[in-house]
Amino acid sequence: MNGAFMNTYHRLPVTFARGEGSWLFDINGKKYLDLSSGIAVNCLGHAYPPLVRAIAAQAEKYSHVCNYFQSDVAEAFAEKLVASCAGMRNVFLGNSGAEANEGACKIARKYSLKKYGPGRHTIVTLRGSFHGRTITTLAATGQDKFHENFGPFTEGFTHIPGGDIAALDKALDQKTVAGLLIEVIQGESGIIPQSVEFIAAAARFCAERDILLMFDEIQCGLGRTGTFLAFEQYRDSSGAPVRADVVTLAKGLAGGIPAGAVLAGEKAAAVFETGDHGSTFGGNPVAAAAGIVVLKTVTDPDFLAEIRRKGELISGIISAWNHPAVTAVRGRGLMTGVDIDREAWPLLEAAAARADSAKNRCGLLMLSAGPKTLRLLPPYTISDNEIGQGLDILKELLDR
Ligand SMILES: Cc1ncc(COP(=O)(O)O)c(C=O)c1O
Repeated sequence: MNGAFMNTYHRLPVTFARGEGSWLFDINGKKYLDLSSGIAVNCLGHAYPPLVRAIAAQAEKYSHVCNYFQSDVAEAFAEKLVASCAGMRNVFLGNSGAEANEGACKIARKYSLKKYGPGRHTIVTLRGSFHGRTITTLAATGQDKFHENFGPFTEGFTHIPGGDIAALDKALDQKTVAGLLIEVIQGESGIIPQSVEFIAAAARFCAERDILLMFDEIQCGLGRTGTFLAFEQYRDSSGAPVRADVVTLAKGLAGGIPAGAVLAGEKAAAVFETGDHGSTFGGNPVAAAAGIVVLKTVTDPDFLAEIRRKGELISGIISAWNHPAVTAVRGRGLMTGVDIDREAWPLLEAAAARADSAKNRCGLLMLSAGPKTLRLLPPYTISDNEIGQGLDILKELLDR
């Protein structure tokens, strides 16, 4: 079924050959409206001209130098990234989300070890979280279904229920815990936002107990929720913006070229010393050139306001249907979860299979997040007209 590939993905029988804006075209020329953005990666759509130009221009100059030297474009990207992330001081560049979260865990552990000695290495995460597929980031991931078959995992991870301030208070033991890793909006498990009270409590406990507060912004960051980072929308108990110690990014960071980043704030910025960490492709010049285009675009306040407006348009249209098959709609910006009364997967299949060139009909690409939740992560560049078109198709599928 997967040809030469290992059978790791449940794939739809569609083979893509080309993309343009919010659209993908398969090898038979059939057209698909993409409300998935490659799981929040193609944030500026497919073949976005400024991104294509930056990638091509950089590839013509040089596409790799090892990290024993400096790269002009990687330096520029790193500087822009640090300047864009509130409260961050420096960055380690890698290639993926899992790699970014591995870096975050290493930073928390070394920070704690150097300051307090051994035994204070636990990292607390939330149930329902998703932090990656390596042995350590699986240990961080608070979903049992991902844990089958692959133990033993890296030790020193505990998961608590999101929203449960008493459980958080208990879990954040000053003697044993090095870090708290949180997605303020869980993507994989159904677009589940954490409450303001919970994040404020997390910020207070972490500050009081010198536990690193680490936000996994891999799916919800980079403008997706209408602010550059999703945690910027949270306030601590004094009403001040929440301050992170570590932030991880990946997915849309280079708009479709692999890139990941772990950023450190004041407390954690000096933790990594020479030789502590590394990555052959980290800070890749082509990815950095693409990343500069993404950052320039998604830090523009007007662009972010448009993301918020389009997000409201999407939830407004779906809510206005009052459709019996829709049991809930939630999300922020262009990160929408739609709970439905039936299995999501057959609907995703039908949405894609709808593509038919002879009937001038396009397919629709969506994601699921849990068995009965649709996850909509369209490109930020999607037009109102395309939103309307996509949601008309979704309604037609729900009407069936
Ligand atoms: C919140 C979050 N963290 C980490 C990851 C892992 O990222 P990657 O697949 O790039 O390793 C993902 C991927 O879906 C994610 O959504």
